[in-house]
Amino acid sequence: MTRQHWTLDDIPWQGIRHDTVAQTEGYFYLVASASLMESATDLYTENLIDYFYGDEEVTSWLEKYWLPEELQHGEALRRYVQVAWPEFDWEPARQRFVEEFKPYCDISLEPTRSQEMASRCVVETGTASYYRTLSRASPEPVLAMLTRHIAEDEVRHYKHFYRYFRKYRDVESPRRTAILPALWRRLRMTGGDDSFIAVKHVYSARYPGEPFDIGVYRRVRRECRQLVREHFPHEMSVRMLLKPLGLGPRTQRLTLPVIGAIARLVVP
Ligand SMILES: [Fe+2]
Ligand SMILES: [Fe+2]
Repeated sequence: MTRQHWTLDDIPWQGIRHDTVAQTEGYFYLVASASLMESATDLYTENLIDYFYGDEEVTSWLEKYWLPEELQHGEALRRYVQVAWPEFDWEPARQRFVEEFKPYCDISLEPTRSQEMASRCVVETGTASYYRTLSRASPEPVLAMLTRHIAEDEVRHYKHFYRYFRKYRDVESPRRTAILPALWRRLRMTGGDDSFIAVKHVYSARYPGEPFDIGVYRRVRRECRQLVREHFPHEMSVRMLLKPLGLGPRTQRLTLPVIGAIARLVVP
């Protein structure tokens, strides 16, 4: 039996104000591209669940809690997009996104389970930071509320993955030098292919026939970044990113500026 912390019925959709974020193109890209990525979670879930075959605790949590919650994020963001930007044709954009994104989904697992858990911690750090940023930045109360709920889910996901990371770390005892590349690889992917492909299909649906390349992508990202940048929860992100490395407080302080710079990549 699944137990969600909130449902779509908890969101006052009729209360969405159209005079704030709906008028700002940057918010459209931030919310619409997230809705595409979240709604495609089931694409890369199967190989993740297969990878932990035999560990009932992990696989049943992934199936019963994590996946339904991620899909609900997609559902809720989709609904927000459809109310705030009704002219955006969501379903065809999603189909085109899925078609292009699918080949990237099978190849991204880490060589060991502890490294994969560390890598999942990075993903949840990225999403938690993204939605925390949006909820702080949004001048529109319903978007702020929705993204706050999502951010809380992502932090909870992180806590689960971190607990499983520790479980496998104790069994596999990987060296810290094996965890770092896993974190780095995943961090590099965040804001990489998936984000490029999502923004591309949001843009192409909005401006049919207009060419989309890396230059356009950078321009859109710059626009989004300017909008929300000052709300990025640096401290939270850094803490979440460093935790799997198990660094002492002194080393952590030394690496803060470096990781802080990296963390800024997480949110467009
Ligand atoms: Fe999510
Ligand atoms: Fe999540």
